[in-house]
Amino acid sequence: LCMVVVIIQCGAAAGGGLDTGGLSRDAFPKGFVFGTATSAYQVEGMAHKDGRGPSIWDVFIQKPGIVANNGTGDVSVDQYHRYKEDVDIMANLNFDAYRFSISWSRIFPSITPYANLYHYDLPLALELRYKGLLSHNVVKDFADYAEFCFKTFGDRVKNWMTFNEPRVVAALGYDNGFFAPGRCSRAYGNCSAGDSATEPYIVAHNLILSHAAAVQRYREKYQEKQKGRIGILLDFVWYEPLTRSKADNYAAQRARDFHVGWFIHPIVYGEYPRTMQNIVGKRLPKFTKEEVKMVKGSMDFVGINQYTTYYMYDNHQPKPKFPGYQQDWNAGFAYAKNGVPVGPRAYSYWLYNVPWGMYKALMYIKERYGNPTVILSENGMDDPGNVTLPKGLHDTTRMNFYKGYLTQLKKAHDEGANVVGYFAWSLLDNFEWRLGYTSRFGIVYVDFKTLKRYPKMSAYWFKQLLTRKKQ
Ligand code: NOJ
Repeated sequence: LCMVVVIIQCGAAAGGGLDTGGLSRDAFPKGFVFGTATSAYQVEGMAHKDGRGPSIWDVFIQKPGIVANNGTGDVSVDQYHRYKEDVDIMANLNFDAYRFSISWSRIFPSITPYANLYHYDLPLALELRYKGLLSHNVVKDFADYAEFCFKTFGDRVKNWMTFNEPRVVAALGYDNGFFAPGRCSRAYGNCSAGDSATEPYIVAHNLILSHAAAVQRYREKYQEKQKGRIGILLDFVWYEPLTRSKADNYAAQRARDFHVGWFIHPIVYGEYPRTMQNIVGKRLPKFTKEEVKMVKGSMDFVGINQYTTYYMYDNHQPKPKFPGYQQDWNAGFAYAKNGVPVGPRAYSYWLYNVPWGMYKALMYIKERYGNPTVILSENGMDDPGNVTLPKGLHDTTRMNFYKGYLTQLKKAHDEGANVVGYFAWSLLDNFEWRLGYTSRFGIVYVDFKTLKRYPKMSAYWFKQLLTRKKQ
């Protein structure tokens, strides 16, 4: 085993021999940023120590059957203590930047920090006090928390992100109960009483207002002095129509609107997409005139988390039995076309390797949303958690995944998409929410018992790609 480790590390560390498919740092524009990404609860550990208060994830994971093999973020991969080692690993792999999240319920140098203020871990106290994200109270509280971070860390942090994947928060937290706080009204998943016909929309509305209020504070009081930028992180599955029919095209468009459009549309245009307004009707909250002013234009860049693509076909049910977010937007998505999967699957059931979806997603954002500055803030794939160290390190599938997606990102960039950075998810194998430690997304293998880190072949692939040629 040691031999295999040594061979991979030495061979690749010597800085050659891995096929980057013609990609190199020089193929990207000057200043293009390459990083890796993680989030607080997924990597830090020390969940109940050093004065950190509980978050909604600390209690959500305690319900029986919620996380695979009863995994918790209590220790996770211990970045709380090992952050210096992890920064050394990144620097050694030639990365420029590190995207991490600050844990709201906890209140961190050759690597540029990209700090995200919210990655699913709402303080439990706010959930108990006023039902958390369902209450408008969260808008001021989040802006206060964000301001604390701007004031305290803004001299060092110049790249701020307000929320990670607000669509996941609203839909998985309040429609199918798959994520904390696990609310929904339908009889599947581990749900507590909730109303999925309205709650996801209320939560999304409060998230958009919280984001915009934080951006407003930053712009009014800190941005000029600190010279930073601020944005939001949106997950974007590319939805491809299954056939060229009008109905399937509309189904795919509806799916994009209810997914990325739910958030980017108000931020760019000051209102929800028309499809949503028509389908959701009165249950969709409205922005007041004042709110439109605050929300419209409230980003300097948009982070796009792009992993996968699904075919969509029209499967609209005019009168859904259980009205809810899923039923509202449901265009009936298909994972396969004529029995041929849209792409090879990773370990996660939702993750198909479809590099061309990256190109289409980026071109869509360019064309529909006025070519905003885009940071590709997450992209990657997972292996099963029980993969052995030698097998885990020899991750040629992941290496080829990154090669495919980065080639398509470059194509979109060469055709005018304003994409200025790319972050691999993730630096380390870590706590993958409901999958616990049964999924490994890292370019660095972590032995979950000893917490020792071992860069995989894909890490050395990045190192080679990111080598700076001597001038
Ligand atoms: C989305 C999320 O931001 C992150 O927390 C998660 O681990 C990855 N994608 C992989 O599922």
